[in-house]
Amino acid sequence: MARVLERCRDLTRPALVDAVGRLHPWIGEMSAYALGWADPTGRPDPGGSEGKGVRQALAVLGAEAVGADAADAVPGAVAVELVHTFSLLHDDIMDADGLRRQRPAVWKAYGTGPAVLAGDALHAQAVTVLAEAPSRHTGAAVRRLCWALNALVSGQAEDLRFEERPWYGPGAVGPGQYRSMAEGKTGALLGCALALGAVLGGAPERTVTALDRAGRHLGLAFQAVDDILGIWGDPVVTGKPVHADLRRRKKTYPVLVALAGGGEAAHELVTLLSSPRPLDDASAELVAALVEEAGGRAATRDEARRHLDGAHRALRDTPLAHTAARELDALFTHVLDRTW
Ligand code: IPE
Ligand code: MG
Ligand code: MG
Repeated sequence: MARVLERCRDLTRPALVDAVGRLHPWIGEMSAYALGWADPTGRPDPGGSEGKGVRQALAVLGAEAVGADAADAVPGAVAVELVHTFSLLHDDIMDADGLRRQRPAVWKAYGTGPAVLAGDALHAQAVTVLAEAPSRHTGAAVRRLCWALNALVSGQAEDLRFEERPWYGPGAVGPGQYRSMAEGKTGALLGCALALGAVLGGAPERTVTALDRAGRHLGLAFQAVDDILGIWGDPVVTGKPVHADLRRRKKTYPVLVALAGGGEAAHELVTLLSSPRPLDDASAELVAALVEEAGGRAATRDEARRHLDGAHRALRDTPLAHTAARELDALFTHVLDRTW
């Protein structure tokens, strides 16, 4: 799989470097930091991580899967990587997360105002790159990207609104509401990445829709694993502080299903989570143990598996070029194969 990701990265990188190079120099510096290319002084950062580049690979493989040339997908691949980078940059401000991929988040390194601006610039540049794509399908591609951006914002809005909802009772967040939030904040962009490759490759609408569906399922599976890692992940692997989601009392899937199950552990959980006091290390540890005891971890793993199956099924139900479809299947499995 590493070979496929590398190939897609090599194909996309020159256009991505060019897109970042056209930004205001200060914004370009922050973007290079966010992309893992540089440290805050602008020097190459050996400790920086570029991330896996899943979205650019989905765009490239999406084009190949519909029999088009990989090069057709490049503006789409650049656009989704830029959107991904901007969304993480703003997300860390919203979530008050000071650490991303083992390094200070952009807002910690440069300040909140500059980080907001850098995110705005990356957002605008993503749309620009796609709108300028030398393709007969540019209009349809830009439309898709804008749909995904709107869905992402709605998902993030729900995610933030959930923080104020009660843990228990009639106002509690249900699994269906959680799914719709996660499909927006995470699934929409993954679906868009795959769909953009196909759109730029001139695929019929039915194929584009099926690929979009596959990406959305992948996003739901990915988010379920992200939620597991947010509670039980090793900070060395996740690059984020341990128990950050619990401390911020995020309505993540494992906690919601643990509470929905009722029982003694759920009861104790409500008491701990509803207390206005910040969770110290020991209480966060206890919450994690109770969520696991109430079945939250196992149910979330099942949720991830179900959506991973859904993603594979969406591919199977669509006529696609054999090699690219196989590589997509492998990529889906790989994306979920984090430490869980
Ligand atoms: C991030 O969601 C979604 C977007 C950036 C749109 P989370 O807040 O759950 O993700 P992490 O754990 O910070 O990466
Ligand atoms: Mg976050
Ligand atoms: Mg968030």
